[in-house]
Amino acid sequence: MITVRGESVTMAAELLRKGEVVAIPTETVYGLAANALEEKAVLKIFSTKNRPAFDPLIVHVPGPEQARLYADVNEDAARLMQIFWPGPLTILLPKKEIVPDLVTSGLPTVGLRMPAHPLTLELLASLDFPLAAPSANPFGYISPTTPGHVNDQLGGKIPYILEGGQSRVGVESTIVSPENGRLILHRPGGISMEELEAKGFRVETAASGNKAPQAPGNLDSHYAPAKPLFFGKAETLLSREWAAPVEVICLHRKDLDIPGSYTVHELSASGDLELAAGKLFATMRECDRSASSTILAFEFPEEGLGRAINDRLRRASFV
Ligand code: TXA
Ligand code: MG
Repeated sequence: MITVRGESVTMAAELLRKGEVVAIPTETVYGLAANALEEKAVLKIFSTKNRPAFDPLIVHVPGPEQARLYADVNEDAARLMQIFWPGPLTILLPKKEIVPDLVTSGLPTVGLRMPAHPLTLELLASLDFPLAAPSANPFGYISPTTPGHVNDQLGGKIPYILEGGQSRVGVESTIVSPENGRLILHRPGGISMEELEAKGFRVETAASGNKAPQAPGNLDSHYAPAKPLFFGKAETLLSREWAAPVEVICLHRKDLDIPGSYTVHELSASGDLELAAGKLFATMRECDRSASSTILAFEFPEEGLGRAINDRLRRASFV
């Protein structure tokens, strides 16, 4: 199959209406989209990504009004939508019959999100169905934040990549479920806990674990480069000997005594965690492509988007 790349919303819409899969830009990462209401189309997402069917998909909608067609929207959810949509927040809600079980892997809830990207919002508004879309990478690998990343891995396997530049946020959406007046956090992401709390929501972290499907695709190994990546405190990792050449991913190198032979990727010299999140996945790909045999990733501050960055690095790590 030849993969066409371009900015045509019309072309993307036509293919999606025919039951095809199309890569779409979002503010978090690129998604691999298909008609969420048509099982045959959704199956193509799973086969293209080599994704196991026990991992449910997020359903993308053009706005809160359409969300009500696919799920029961309670008061807290409505407030979240009003405040944070369009944006990197996925809300888990009781699904309506019309959403195929294949999309939710048989779970009674569906994850809904209104992405903040003008092209994809235009696309969603032009369709009379919502889009199921996981990140547009082979299962378990690093998520794509540019059309080039998508093409590197899915080129030849999908008919179209809707090009919308580099993803602004750079890490996936935050996933929450409103339950009894609090928010259960299932995956840290582009909206920080602090931002949710600042709007008066009480946030609790979901009990983690690999087996419970309730913990979203939160498989321990995920977002992983092909090379071994070691994640931990800078001092601990720097106290060990590593096989050269070595690549380092860190927020900044200030106060750190890093051997001159290491290649250092500072994600933000000024310590800006949002900027750092935006560069994370592209940097991981760069390290993976390099000649180095080892990637070291130093823990980020566990605050703001630092939580999502640490979560992705932990899952990407070798051990
Ligand atoms: O930012 C994002 O969320 C991106 C863009 C494309 O929107 N999408 C994304 O999709 O990251 P994906 O499939 O790579 O990750 C979605 C996660 C999965 O780990 C899945 O298990 C979880 O969301 N999920 C989806 N529906 C769920 C549900 N009903 N219950 C629990 N977890 C769910
Ligand atoms: Mg993913």
